[in-house]
Amino acid sequence: MDKKLQNQIAIITGASSGIGEGCAKEFSKAGATVVVNYPVDAAKDMAEKVVADITATGGNAIAYKCDVSKEDEVIKMFVDVVAQFGTVDILINNAGLQRDSKFEEMSLATWNFVIGVNLTGQFLCAREAIKEFLRRGVDETRSKAAGKIICMSSVHEVIPWAGHANYAASKGGIMLMMKTIAQEFAPRKIRINSIAPGAIQTPINKDAWDTAAHLQNLLRLIPEKRIGNVEDIGKAAVFLASDDADYINGTTLFVDGGMTLYPGFEDNG
Ligand code: BGC
Repeated sequence: MDKKLQNQIAIITGASSGIGEGCAKEFSKAGATVVVNYPVDAAKDMAEKVVADITATGGNAIAYKCDVSKEDEVIKMFVDVVAQFGTVDILINNAGLQRDSKFEEMSLATWNFVIGVNLTGQFLCAREAIKEFLRRGVDETRSKAAGKIICMSSVHEVIPWAGHANYAASKGGIMLMMKTIAQEFAPRKIRINSIAPGAIQTPINKDAWDTAAHLQNLLRLIPEKRIGNVEDIGKAAVFLASDDADYINGTTLFVDGGMTLYPGFEDNG
């Protein structure tokens, strides 16, 4: 099999479940060594299960606890990973969460919590990754790029989402942070892109698919008429991180079964 990420080191934040877990497994299949980041002790067992699944198939992975919203923890994670593996080639800026609330009832703490993990967390991890990419520069035995960052965004970087103002604001923010740093670092051969997943079957949106009625309601929003799975995202992330995508920089790849195609208009509006 053609291993597109052979010997590359990938930090995947929020990889103990959901889309992050799916990316970790696809990256391992593509030959990468994977740092399975998890945020809190309660997620340790899940992260270690992901690592065990990867090593059982002959891959390399470690679990690493770090709350991406905490500057000192993020800095330490990159120092420790570089000390252990020599460098970092890929950052999957995936860690994210929802704390939904009617807008008029949303507390500042709820706002700050979501922005802190989803947006500030991506800023902190991207900054530390870029420092390492700039230090190493291009090593053609690894990749044509000095480094690759994939920001996990959402269809809600463009689709407004009532009841989720903090989440949608974080994803809209990711879009322009990603494009801005892609513009800033493309001349240094660093590639930065986003993936915007639609409805992917994970714990974050369980209440949208956990009953037949809920799922039917959700499928109205998806022209392909199926909910996505984490492999759909993991495979897209492997492509974007690989040299096959060497000329792709500063763009968002929507992986959403058509959710952003205004499905309400499919029958004459
Ligand atoms: C959200 C999910 C939602 C999906 C489509 C994602 O970003 O986290 O809860 O199902 O967007 O609306």
